[in-house]
Amino acid sequence: MQTEKDLYLAAGCFWGAEHFFKQIQGVTFTEVGFANGHADNPSYEQVYTDTTGHAEAVHLRYDPLQVSLSYLLEMYFKAVDPTSLNQQGEDRGTRYRTGIYYSDPDDLPFIRLAMQQEAARYALPLQVEVLPLQCFFRAEDYHQDYLDSNPDGYCHLPLSLFEYARKGRDTATLQKSEQYSLVLKQIQSLLDGETDSIARMANTAALLHETFRFWWTGYYRVEGDELLLGPFQGPVACMHIPIGKGVCGTAWQQNRTLVVPDVEQFPGHIACSAASRSEIVVPVRSDGKVVAVLDIDSQHLATFDYCDRHWLEQVVAL
Ligand code: SME
Repeated sequence: MQTEKDLYLAAGCFWGAEHFFKQIQGVTFTEVGFANGHADNPSYEQVYTDTTGHAEAVHLRYDPLQVSLSYLLEMYFKAVDPTSLNQQGEDRGTRYRTGIYYSDPDDLPFIRLAMQQEAARYALPLQVEVLPLQCFFRAEDYHQDYLDSNPDGYCHLPLSLFEYARKGRDTATLQKSEQYSLVLKQIQSLLDGETDSIARMANTAALLHETFRFWWTGYYRVEGDELLLGPFQGPVACMHIPIGKGVCGTAWQQNRTLVVPDVEQFPGHIACSAASRSEIVVPVRSDGKVVAVLDIDSQHLATFDYCDRHWLEQVVAL
């Protein structure tokens, strides 16, 4: 299963920015280039004229089982002045604008949430662009890993920041991954030899709920053209969900996992409980057809991300 993810960040001069991001544990690959401009394959000199529309950007690949998108964005905001328009450090021009460019639309709610949280820290508005990645052209080789080849080279970021990035750990994600891998083994042995699907769902929900102390953990089963409440742990819940309705009905209709960091931002979310603030819904399939969904709710924002998705998809595959 391919779990690595991509993200494109414009944070001023890409020499220092790449050096910063590559220190973060869980970032497995970086390259620098030019993002979201209007000319194909521009040279550094062309971008430098500030007429091609590109931003100097770093392409990051990361392992979401080690580091979350939210953590990466937290680190990103440590390396930029998000209120500064077209200038970072002494570098000025639209090519030095700040931007978060995503290649997976499912990243957008996480980026929005991080932007909201960051904006609350400033009186001035944020100048960070949030856009889908339109294009990315890798820069000339001598720009790649520039500060590794030129340790005394120009850098707009303080050296202390590199140390900070190197020492930091996304402990929440690392611990979560470890817990899931244990729980997965427990569920495997618990279900061993049991063929009744209700009994299997009941104990899986109980074990997940107990381990992670979620707000609501349970299943909805496909019955005709609606979902019907199945075994669960937590407060009473709505019993019928039509196809295409709410997070559950949408995950069923689209036959894919939906991760919702803020339920208020999900159009049509069904609030069985006012306390629920984030949610993940994972389809359970039999011969490729959705036969049920695993639904988990949390009382906190952004409890679930790609790490949960990865592990919970393994749980339902059992
Ligand atoms: N929130 C879900 C409904 C189920 S409860 O969360 C238990 C939804 O929008 O589908």
